[in-house]
Amino acid sequence: MLLYILIVLLVYIFSVMILHLKNPEPYWDWDNISLDESKFPKKFKWGTATASHQVEGNSINNWSKFENQINKNGDPNISNNQKSGDACDHWNRYAEDILLIKNLGVSHYRFSIEWSKIEPEQNCFDIDVINHYHKMIDSIIENDLVPVLTLHHFTHPLWFDDLGAFEKSDNIKFFIKFCDKVFKEYSSKVPIWCTINEPAVVSTQGYFSGMFPPGKKDSQLSAIVLKNLLEAHVQSYQSLKKLENGDKVKIGIVKNINQFDPWRRWNLLDWIVSAAVNQFFNWSSIQFLSSGEFKIRIPGLAWIKHENKNAINSTDFFGLNYYSHNHLKVKLFSKELFSMEYKNKDIMTDMPYIIYPEGIYRAIKYVSILKVPIMITENGIADHKDDRRAIYIERYLYSVSKAIKDGYNVVGYFYWSLMDNFEWAFGYDMKFGLYSVDFKTQKRKLRKGANTFIKIVKNAK
Ligand code: BGC
Repeated sequence: MLLYILIVLLVYIFSVMILHLKNPEPYWDWDNISLDESKFPKKFKWGTATASHQVEGNSINNWSKFENQINKNGDPNISNNQKSGDACDHWNRYAEDILLIKNLGVSHYRFSIEWSKIEPEQNCFDIDVINHYHKMIDSIIENDLVPVLTLHHFTHPLWFDDLGAFEKSDNIKFFIKFCDKVFKEYSSKVPIWCTINEPAVVSTQGYFSGMFPPGKKDSQLSAIVLKNLLEAHVQSYQSLKKLENGDKVKIGIVKNINQFDPWRRWNLLDWIVSAAVNQFFNWSSIQFLSSGEFKIRIPGLAWIKHENKNAINSTDFFGLNYYSHNHLKVKLFSKELFSMEYKNKDIMTDMPYIIYPEGIYRAIKYVSILKVPIMITENGIADHKDDRRAIYIERYLYSVSKAIKDGYNVVGYFYWSLMDNFEWAFGYDMKFGLYSVDFKTQKRKLRKGANTFIKIVKNAK
């Protein structure tokens, strides 16, 4: 019996040691790092980003339905019952906003177009809306900025929801039809296209945590939706590439990598849960894009296997969004299986995650196995006091520049976001903007912390 216990103990120690050594959680000595050393290639794409639903206003035929509903506990779905409403009125104020972007000294503007406005009813395309985006794209170009267009940034029309949205693989064709239509309109003007923004967020927030529409909590369905969103990316990529200009433009997926580390590095259960969450959230997508195999195998939670070899080489670049680092802690005697924790030594953002610039370096390394150029399509901080933004920008950009120096092919960086906006389930409480917005007057004001970004961009030229 004693021998048996000893063997189990040795196996446990050995497994944890291997995991610990194979998956380091680096922390750099920031006090002794010279941030002035950040260097970027001359052709680096500097930009800032927004998404239609978060900034345009008057989006009434999409995600906003969820803003007016209550959850199972009787609470509003959005913090303090806020609604996207007029948002930043970017729809009417895009011209002045484009000047704000120009003032930052950047070269690119990433925005999304609102499917629910372009095709409010199935098969009915609104020509005025299509022309509106034409004018906006023209204005971006006239101001010497390069437009980067996202086709799906969390929102779609209600008729698509009514059909079951991405719960059903049969519905992907409706998304492709929309993509083809807008590509024919704008592809002669827009050189960089993003297909789906953060498929794992749409699937986990919408179908696992229930924080996004449709507010479901079904882990198997969440995995199915993730698979279908990735399929939608692959199929739209293939379809757009066949159209005129398809071979001239760059088309890529946008995916955020969240770092999941065990709370206790000696605890095998924390390691197992971190690995499972990582497989669901990160690895299943990367594996699909690199091998054509989509697999999630988490007993009792989600079990799915799907293959499409067209997924290999289906992205001209990898749009990497990076925000969060989570520590997972198993809770044996609690209703919830595990919790997300934050180590004290780290600095919090206003969102429930910490500042961990080493994480963006790790994320770049992680996705580099796809062997395509990496574009940081989003990175930024919610910081209502504006007392952490400058250091956040300096340190994250240091990490990006270090990755470039170490040989990783990072071609651009887009700060999230141009201005404060509707931060989904958090409403207007989160202040990500380089510009603050007074939502009563719609006045924009450059934040002090944004000057650090402007300075780095200027020095890099
Ligand atoms: C999304 C943005 C969001 C940002 C900050 C990203 O996941 O693409 O729409 O505002 O994170 O939370």
